[in-house]
Amino acid sequence: MSSLNPTKITEIKNNLEKRVVTLSDGTKIPCLGQGTWYMGETPKAKDEEIKALQLGIDLGMTLIDTAEMYGNGDSERLVGEAIKGRRDEVFLVSKVYPHHAGLDKLSMACENSLKRLGTDHLDLYLLHWRGRVPLEETIEGMEKLKKEGKILRWGVSNFDTADMKELWSAPNGQNCATNQVLYHLGSRGIDYDLLPWQREHNMPIMAYSPLAQGGSLRKQLINDPVIIEMAEKYDVKSLQIALAWTIRTKHVIAIPKAVQEQHVVQNAEAASIELTEEDLSILDQVFPAPKKKVPLDII
Ligand SMILES: NC(=O)c1ccc[n+]([C@@H]2O[C@H](COP(=O)([O-])OP(=O)(O)OC[C@H]3O[C@@H](n4cnc5c(N)ncnc54)[C@H](OP(=O)(O)O)[C@@H]3O)[C@@H](O)[C@H]2O)c1
Repeated sequence: MSSLNPTKITEIKNNLEKRVVTLSDGTKIPCLGQGTWYMGETPKAKDEEIKALQLGIDLGMTLIDTAEMYGNGDSERLVGEAIKGRRDEVFLVSKVYPHHAGLDKLSMACENSLKRLGTDHLDLYLLHWRGRVPLEETIEGMEKLKKEGKILRWGVSNFDTADMKELWSAPNGQNCATNQVLYHLGSRGIDYDLLPWQREHNMPIMAYSPLAQGGSLRKQLINDPVIIEMAEKYDVKSLQIALAWTIRTKHVIAIPKAVQEQHVVQNAEAASIELTEEDLSILDQVFPAPKKKVPLDII
């Protein structure tokens, strides 16, 4: 059980539910979901991780992102446990390895993910990154999975603008629901071309590592005096400002990963922070958008 009182949980959830992102098929999903990379890999952490995901769902972060790659399926198994009995509340996303994305392997990879997740369908199935399999073949496989009801929609991940243009011109390529890419205040290369291109084509971005995951970039965000001052103004933490920035438009869904309860709560509460035009221009000065094309950041 969470230490949060039910009234607080409802308040955070209600605020989050006001901030939805609409997919091109009209489906509305929350602007904040939950990442699961590294979850399920340490037996001792399992209970805490399951509780974190369940609290996240309670708070309205009902989109859960996983992948067959994460812990060789252990992340999917953990998610399966966390959503047992609550499948209908969740928008479930998983990802296929590029080397499983050909017609001969895609169906089996999806079946294995479904088994590990304990469900009969995914809400969204993503190609984890572009590999050697021709896009046309992956699209054909994804469309087949859709017809069979194994997935409701498909998308891609780590595609830069040129890849998206190629995908868009392939048969059925325009059925792509989203592109999941790295995006945070300290890494905003996509603001130059990919984000505008996707907005023009009515395809939201799914932002991974929205908290800069760790390392020096993260420290820069936490310690930046401008962010600290803004966080004080809103009575929140620096990283909540960074997260609120990522979801500042209706075209981005962010999927922070958090195991510690306080982190889960802070992330959900970030949806209540409405940054003003003035805040955004102050942040632009410290973390400017690029003025020319930069290659997509990938981890
Ligand atoms: N498509 C791709 O190629 C790709 C690549 C990378 C990631 N992803 C997806 O995106 C998800 C998120 O990215 P990520 O896991 O790389 O990094 P992230 O969400 O940017 O950062 C996760 C780290 O931040 C900490 N954290 C979470 N909330 C916090 C808060 N409010 N304050 C301070 N620290 C906080 C977490 O700690 P605790 O866990 O200890 O709470 C964890 O160490 C992944 O889990 C995965 O699902 C996809």
